[in-house]
Amino acid sequence: MISRSIEKRLNKHITTILIGGIFLTFSVVLVLSMCNIQGCHDQTYSINDRHAQHSNSKDSWQKSFLEPVKEFSAKLVVIIISGPNNTRQRDIIRETWLNDSSIKSHIIWRFVIGVANMPKELRKYLDRESFIRHDLLLLEDHEESYQSLANKVLQSFSWVDHHVNFEFVLKVDDDSFVRLDKMINELKSKPKEHLYWGFFDGRAHVKKRGKWSEPDWILCDRYLPYALGGGYVISSDLVHFIVSNGPILKKFNSEDVSVGAWLGPLDIQRIHDPRFDTEYVSRGCQNVYIITHKKSIIDMRELHKNLKTTGKLCSKERLIRKSYVYNWNVLPTGCCIRNNTQIP
Ligand SMILES: *[C@@H]1O[C@H](CO)[C@@H](O)[C@H](O)[C@H]1NC(C)=O
Ligand SMILES: *[C@@H]1O[C@H](CO)[C@@H](O)[C@H](O)[C@H]1NC(C)=O
Ligand SMILES: *[C@@H]1O[C@H](CO)[C@@H](O)[C@H](O)[C@H]1NC(C)=O
Repeated sequence: MISRSIEKRLNKHITTILIGGIFLTFSVVLVLSMCNIQGCHDQTYSINDRHAQHSNSKDSWQKSFLEPVKEFSAKLVVIIISGPNNTRQRDIIRETWLNDSSIKSHIIWRFVIGVANMPKELRKYLDRESFIRHDLLLLEDHEESYQSLANKVLQSFSWVDHHVNFEFVLKVDDDSFVRLDKMINELKSKPKEHLYWGFFDGRAHVKKRGKWSEPDWILCDRYLPYALGGGYVISSDLVHFIVSNGPILKKFNSEDVSVGAWLGPLDIQRIHDPRFDTEYVSRGCQNVYIITHKKSIIDMRELHKNLKTTGKLCSKERLIRKSYVYNWNVLPTGCCIRNNTQIP
C-alpha cells in the first residue's frame, strides 16, 4: 500500500524532476565550457610565474564574468604623459590638436599624472582641474620623479585595459603635436592585432650617465629596437599582454626602451614610420608628419593655426636633421643610416 502511494506521487512529479534534472545538467555543462573557452585559464598570455598567473587569471575572470561592460569605448585611446605643474601644456593641447570635432567620436584621451605623496595644495589643484575637465588620470600609486616613467606608462595601460573597449593606444608626451585626423584615417588600414607603430631605433647606445641612464640594462650592448617615446601606437592585444605580465616585467628608467624590451621576443608587426617625428629633438617641419615632438606652447599654437588657415602643418617645410627608413634585413647596428634627404 505504502509503496504504491509513493509510486503514485512519484509519477505525478516525474515531469518536474526530469525538467529540473535537465536544467541542472545544462547549467553545469555551460559553466564548464565557459571555463574552457576563456575564463579559468588564459593561456595566451600566461607566464610560468605564480605572481603573474595570479594577476592574469583574476584579470581574465573579471573580463569574462564580472566586468562584461567597460565604462568607455573608443577606437583610439590617447595617453598623454604629463606632469603636475604642466597645466598650460595641457590647456594648449585641449585647445589645439584635441579640439577637432571630426575625430571626437573615435577617441578618448587622458592626461596622466602620478599623485602618490603629493603636497596637499597641489593635489587639490589637480582635483579641481579633473573636476572641470574630466580628462585627468591621477595615478594614486605613482610618485612623480621618484618612480620610473616605465611604471607610469604601465599603470596607464592597466587603466586603459580595465576600463576601455578599444582597438589602439597612442602614447605621447605633453610636448607632442598630433594630427589625430590623419592617424585615425591611417589606422583603418593598419592590422588590429600585433601592431607596434612608430619611429624605431635599433642601434641606440646604452646610456650610462645623465637623465636617461639605464644602470640596470644587462640584455646586450645596445637597446633592443624600440619606438621612440615622443609618440607610438600599439594594438589592444599587446596592451593586454603587457598589463597581464606587468608584475614580472623589468621597468627600466625610460618608458620607450622598456616597451621595446617588453615586446622584444614577440612575433609582431613593427612598423617604422618617418612621419613620426618623435626623436629627442624634432627633425624640423614636414607637412606629412603625423606626430611632431618637442613643441612649445607657441609652436603648438602656430601649427594649429597653419592647419586651420592653409590646411597644411608647416608655414615652411624644413629638414634640420636627416631621417631614415629602418632596414630590418640587416643587424640592428646597421638599421638606421641617415643618408637621404628625401625621407621626412
Ligand atoms: C611644481 O610646482 C611646485 C611649486 O609651484 C614645486 O614645489 C614642485 O616641485 C613642482 N613639481 C614638479 C614635479 O615640478
Ligand atoms: C574648440 O574650438 C572651438 C571653435 O572651433 C571653440 O569655440 C572652443 O572654445 C574650443 N575648445 C577649447 C577647449 O579650446
Ligand atoms: C642609404 O643606406 C642604405 C643602407 O646602407 C642603402 O641601402 C641605401 O642605398 C643608401 N641610400 C643612399 C641614397 O645612399
